[in-house]
Amino acid sequence: MATGSDSSGISFTAFYTGEVWRRHGLSVPFLSLPQGRLLYAAGRPMELLAEALLGAGNETMLLQRHLIIDCILEQAITEQGVTQVVEIACGLSPRGTLIARRFADRDLHYLEADLPGMAARKRNLLERAGELGPRHQVLDIDILARDSAISLESVFQSRLDPSRKTLVITEGLVNYFDYPTITGFWARLASALKPFPAGIYVTDLYPNFQWHRAVKVARVFKAALGVVTRSQVSLHFGNEAAIREGFHDVGFAATRVHLPESYYGVLDIPVQRTPSLVRVIENHVSRD
Ligand SMILES: C[S@@+](CC[C@H](N)C(=O)[O-])C[C@H]1O[C@@H](n2cnc3c(N)ncnc32)[C@H](O)[C@@H]1O
Repeated sequence: MATGSDSSGISFTAFYTGEVWRRHGLSVPFLSLPQGRLLYAAGRPMELLAEALLGAGNETMLLQRHLIIDCILEQAITEQGVTQVVEIACGLSPRGTLIARRFADRDLHYLEADLPGMAARKRNLLERAGELGPRHQVLDIDILARDSAISLESVFQSRLDPSRKTLVITEGLVNYFDYPTITGFWARLASALKPFPAGIYVTDLYPNFQWHRAVKVARVFKAALGVVTRSQVSLHFGNEAAIREGFHDVGFAATRVHLPESYYGVLDIPVQRTPSLVRVIENHVSRD
């Protein structure tokens, strides 16, 4: 179970999201894999059902979260001077490749990280495509590990440059864990980010907003997803104030909740006629 020490049952979901990025022209050819195409086809009936019931499916929210995270990251690099990015649970996301290419002239260090199996696959794909180098690497990490070479603390200590303004991303990860497990990780992350000249954490989040129609449907969906991924799929926080309070409680000094609706007409993200359920959370630590 994801509450224990092995969450590798979640890894296959990265094939699905990788295929979503590819289908919408957001990826690069060498990250397109047959497993993704198969999973995408298998998930299609569920997606169509969600669209019929709710007016928007999961794919809409995946695209919203992905493009909003890209936007926040790009602004952090260009406007706040971030030069070190760690994308935890990178899966088959093209972001590392695209951002490393785009900001090659800015001395940006982009570290992608995932569980060892997924990290090895990604490293191999990027290596063969000639994308890796001193400024773009793929690391092994396990957010649940303690006292291990692949724990958050060890990876930060051994692989990050403490003099750089640093931004950490998790996308498509946090809702696979129950609240005590994920807040344990967030508290360790906030404390690991404090020594850097700037420490920012950006994540997507599916909240437990009772007023939202999708939450009722999500209950069925999350039970099924929990079984196939062997994880504690959970929705976190009952309202936006609770989100801000929750991140404050684990050690972040400032939290901003980004709603997809604020980006309609600003970014090229899909617009849905019902309220979106996904949120992107931007957290900043303050130095001790
Ligand atoms: C839904 S995929 C998201 C992949 C990618 N971020 C995206 O949005 O396309 C979830 C990812 O979480 C990774 N993962 C699962 N448990 C993890 C852990 N304990 N530590 C780090 N990554 C983990 C999986 O290997 C997988 O790549």
